[in-house]
Amino acid sequence: MATSKTLIIPAAGSGTRMQRERAKPFIELGSQPILAHTIQRFLSLAGLSQILIAAAAEYIQECSDILQEVVGNSISWQCVEGGAERQDSINNALQHVADVDLVLVHDAVRPFVNADLIEACCRQAERTGAAIPGIPSKDTLKKIDDDRLVQQTPDRKYMWQVQTPQVFKKEILVKAYARAAQEKYVGTDDASLVEWLGKPVKMVKSDTRNIKITYPQDLKLANLLLNDKAFS
Ligand code: CTP
Ligand code: MG
Repeated sequence: MATSKTLIIPAAGSGTRMQRERAKPFIELGSQPILAHTIQRFLSLAGLSQILIAAAAEYIQECSDILQEVVGNSISWQCVEGGAERQDSINNALQHVADVDLVLVHDAVRPFVNADLIEACCRQAERTGAAIPGIPSKDTLKKIDDDRLVQQTPDRKYMWQVQTPQVFKKEILVKAYARAAQEKYVGTDDASLVEWLGKPVKMVKSDTRNIKITYPQDLKLANLLLNDKAFS
């Protein structure tokens, strides 16, 4: 039997860097909103029993319409209101998580994630408790200070750029979010809250197609990827 899973999709951002009127998850890519593409990527995942999407109040109805259309009644789903920061949006969604083994958190604006990566992250999370996808940094990274003076050049082979889906045993993620809220700790991804608890997080090798649509040029790239027949 496959382990039971909840998928949380934060979709409540306003998309400042995209400079469009509509929030990014609700911008059309090809014939449907970005969010619809993203949800579809998870529908073949064994054991997926719940989908929770955090959306801004003015997009809740649109979000429900997309879920009804793409998921229908096959999997339990719910749209919840997001918060000011991504971490707040996920925290709100976590309040509604069912009794499952694993929770996957995936950005609404990464519509090109593939099934193999999702499954690999789930398998690794079953073993380690927490697993995140990433790619080795192709650029050298520098640690700087507030005056932009370079402080350190970490060995590039240990520096990876992180994506989603980030997958966790439910009890670990719930505990990490509760502790972060209690102690007002803000992290830049979900795994950082788990790391802060002192729990292990394992990296799973991903690929460069799992882009996060962030800037206008990413939307152009997304259209190219969508029409690339070599990529399914
Ligand atoms: N997100 C969210 N709630 C927030 C902020 C972000 O659910 N308060 C979601 C976004 O909708 C997106 C994901 O988190 O799916 C990744 O965030 P990002 O790419 O930074 O999107 P935005 O915050 O919308 O964009 P920007 O930072 O340019 O404003
Ligand atoms: Mg943001």
